[in-house]
Amino acid sequence: MTATEDLGHPLGGQQGPEPIYSLSGVDKEYARGSVTVTAIAAVSLEIGAGEMVSLEGPSGSGKSTLLLLLGALDRPTRGSILYNGVELASASERELTQIRRNEIGFVFQQFNLIPTLSAAENVEIAAQARPGTEASTRARELLEMVGLGSRSDHLPSRLSGGEQQRVAIARALMNGPKVIIADEPTGNLDSASAATVMDLLSKLNSESGVTVIIATHDRDVAGRCPRRIRLRDGKIQPDADE
Ligand SMILES: Nc1ncnc2c1ncn2[C@@H]1O[C@H](COP(=O)(O)OP(=O)(O)O)[C@@H](O)[C@H]1O
Ligand SMILES: [Mg+2]
Repeated sequence: MTATEDLGHPLGGQQGPEPIYSLSGVDKEYARGSVTVTAIAAVSLEIGAGEMVSLEGPSGSGKSTLLLLLGALDRPTRGSILYNGVELASASERELTQIRRNEIGFVFQQFNLIPTLSAAENVEIAAQARPGTEASTRARELLEMVGLGSRSDHLPSRLSGGEQQRVAIARALMNGPKVIIADEPTGNLDSASAATVMDLLSKLNSESGVTVIIATHDRDVAGRCPRRIRLRDGKIQPDADE
């Protein structure tokens, strides 16, 4: 399959039985000095548009590496990663950048907010369209949606961890992504804040149809995902009974 020409609208944003991701025989190796580290080995899987999936596994099992590949932030050493029919393994840098900017929202364990900007400014700055009145209005609407309307003008330092992560989720939504990729999004949160963040991600998935992929080693977090994928030593494990 070849890359879609018009990357602004791959398949017209259609959601349906078509998988949004289709991975086949994916390996990712890193060179560490003279040693080759295999972070991901022989991964084949499909993720449907609108699924909510957890990636579970112990530290070092390859969760973050797989998220980088799914997020078009890195390329596989071998194998095929089709995203909406676009082959990420051979797509140009420009194509990958377009996909990252317009289609994927990222959420990280450390929130990664800019400390000198207000919550609203942190969200607005993610706008692909020039920041301005429209982006500013949308930023405030998104903060409203994540339950932080009254905190829009606060600096991150005045927000709790859970609130900062909700700002980060609002930022991830700025460009209307099809996919949210979250790497240990609750790793720095107490269990009550973690539950609030998971409520929000679940709502985005069920009400807006955003595909959500969450790496976690927290079983409670994974348990909130209808589909759980387990990694060990870079390989997908067969489903275990709960
Ligand atoms: N940039 C890198 N260079 C070398 N080795 C790496 C790099 N990133 C990850 N690794 C190695 O790949 C393996 C998987 O790491 P990672 O994907 O971060 O796992 P997880 O997120 O599950 O903790 C580990 O052995 C890790 O040390
Ligand atoms: Mg990790």
